[in-house]
Amino acid sequence: MQHFVDIAQFNQVELLELLNSAQDSLEQPVEQCLQNHFVANLFFEPSTRTRCSFEIAAKRLGAKIINLDSSCSSAQKGETVMDTITNLQAMGVTHFIIRHQQNSLVDEVAAHVGDSAHIINAGCGTSQHPSQALLDMLTIQQHKKNFADLSVAIIGDMKHSRVAHSDIAALQILGVHKIHLIAPVNLLPTDIKQTGITVFNNIDEGLADVDVIMTLRMQKERMQAGIIPDATEFFQQYGLTPARLALAKPDAIVMHPGPMNRGVEIANDVADGKQSVILQQVTNGVAARMAILAATVT
Ligand code: NCD
Repeated sequence: MQHFVDIAQFNQVELLELLNSAQDSLEQPVEQCLQNHFVANLFFEPSTRTRCSFEIAAKRLGAKIINLDSSCSSAQKGETVMDTITNLQAMGVTHFIIRHQQNSLVDEVAAHVGDSAHIINAGCGTSQHPSQALLDMLTIQQHKKNFADLSVAIIGDMKHSRVAHSDIAALQILGVHKIHLIAPVNLLPTDIKQTGITVFNNIDEGLADVDVIMTLRMQKERMQAGIIPDATEFFQQYGLTPARLALAKPDAIVMHPGPMNRGVEIANDVADGKQSVILQQVTNGVAARMAILAATVT
């Protein structure tokens, strides 16, 4: 695999192969397949989980990693991302893990570098966050037998969420037939493939008998001032509380990509409760990112 830019670049078989590789890395010693490789983390937006887990994944595969702090890099002097990359390539960097506010930037960079480097999307604008989708699918697979039989509810700000866009695409590739999108009209996505999707404005109806619940942060940084929903009101109407969780199947799992805004999209008792797999998602983040990095060299 040259680049990892969009979850939709994979068919079902390829996605299942990546999931197997991620699961193997949790169960078996891993090969140091990135020894002698330099990997650069280029994050132009804040990150805790994604940046650190890519760093740990790269190190576990034997790579050396450079973390470029965009706030004190030459980006501040007007250098383009492409120029930053070609300069780092000139120093021997082979892999670029990129998070950026522009939807199309990672695709453009991948097209530009061709096969001279590996470009990995760590979250772009509102459009794609494919490594999050991979770790989310891995987490679901660890709890549920068969993707095709699942019903999955996604609650909250899907319009601005790159996680939702990539998760919906991944669920569709893996054959999930029942996806419930639960949100007020102004936070629903307008640009997704509608296969298997039902929209609910009422959370109680949307949660009935689902197997998996994904909660999302309100992406205030991507909203225009004036249209940001009130946090208290949002929690009253769409917050995942223990009473609402009880409407799903008794063995339903609760997911969140982080960072959580407790008391806005999710109650403390649910976030820390026994159906929550949120920290398992974080552990799986390292495994999924090892699978992605390893797939570039094997
Ligand atoms: C998400 C992101 O950056 O898109 N976080 C993550 O990578 N785990 C979700 C968010 O910021 O709310």
